[in-house]
Amino acid sequence: MIFTNWRNAPIEIIELAESFDWQMSKHKPEDGSLYADFDNDKLVLTRDGKTNIFVDFAEGANAHRQKFGGGKGQAIAKAVGLNKVDLNKTPVSVIDATAGMGKDAFVLASLGCNVTLVERQQPIFALLVDGFRRARVSEHLPWFDDRMSLQHLGAQQALTDAAKAKQSFDVVYLDPMFPHREKSAAVKKDMALFQTFVGFDEDADELLPLAKKLATKRVVVKRPDYAPFLAEQSPTMQIKTKKNRFDVYVNAAMV
Ligand SMILES: C[S@@+](CC[C@H](N)C(=O)[O-])C[C@H]1O[C@@H](n2cnc3c(N)ncnc32)[C@H](O)[C@@H]1O
Repeated sequence: MIFTNWRNAPIEIIELAESFDWQMSKHKPEDGSLYADFDNDKLVLTRDGKTNIFVDFAEGANAHRQKFGGGKGQAIAKAVGLNKVDLNKTPVSVIDATAGMGKDAFVLASLGCNVTLVERQQPIFALLVDGFRRARVSEHLPWFDDRMSLQHLGAQQALTDAAKAKQSFDVVYLDPMFPHREKSAAVKKDMALFQTFVGFDEDADELLPLAKKLATKRVVVKRPDYAPFLAEQSPTMQIKTKKNRFDVYVNAAMV
């Protein structure tokens, strides 16, 4: 992948780009393919220099949701079972094995969970590294480094390795890509861009048995409301929102 304006990037990002064999270039690709750019202290992915995707935990939508998102009352928190525990007394560990742009992981960490994010796609992983870089030094997120960690790995591998190492996670969280039903114009531009290069996670069914084996308390699977159950397995319970649902597979009570 081509990386423009890399000279403005901090060494951590340049070294990551080098390790991924990104091509440092003054010129963006002429064929409209995806490229990385460093703009305004952020690593971004874009095709046209206008629709950019990037990870920003300290500002923007993530920060807004942290302040006004509804705390433990929001659906994701209920699905993970946070409404049942006092996080000050009982820390909850989550492995988000399909981290994407880290939005859900950030919600859970901002509510007090310790979250390990796993992402396999290089460009998305690079955006997460860059988002972590800025969040770590943000005065608004003093807890960030203690609660959020990141792995560049396939989820199958990460879940298997954790089980082998007897590493325990209360919750395994899964949100694999599923085709959008709406016509592409209705899908937000940045989401559409994300989809074009991440594709659809056709191996997602493999994750459920591994997740069930690892989670000491529960597995939470986020799905669009029209999607079938992951691996065709009925959950113990469901929590529904306007467009999504959380299928919850309970292994043990949260408390
Ligand atoms: C729908 S997005 C997740 C969005 C995320 N929940 C958020 O809040 O930003 C799905 C992501 O999971 C990643 N993914 C899917 N299957 C994976 C696997 N087996 N291993 C690692 N990452 C995976 C994809 O690359 C993609 O970035």
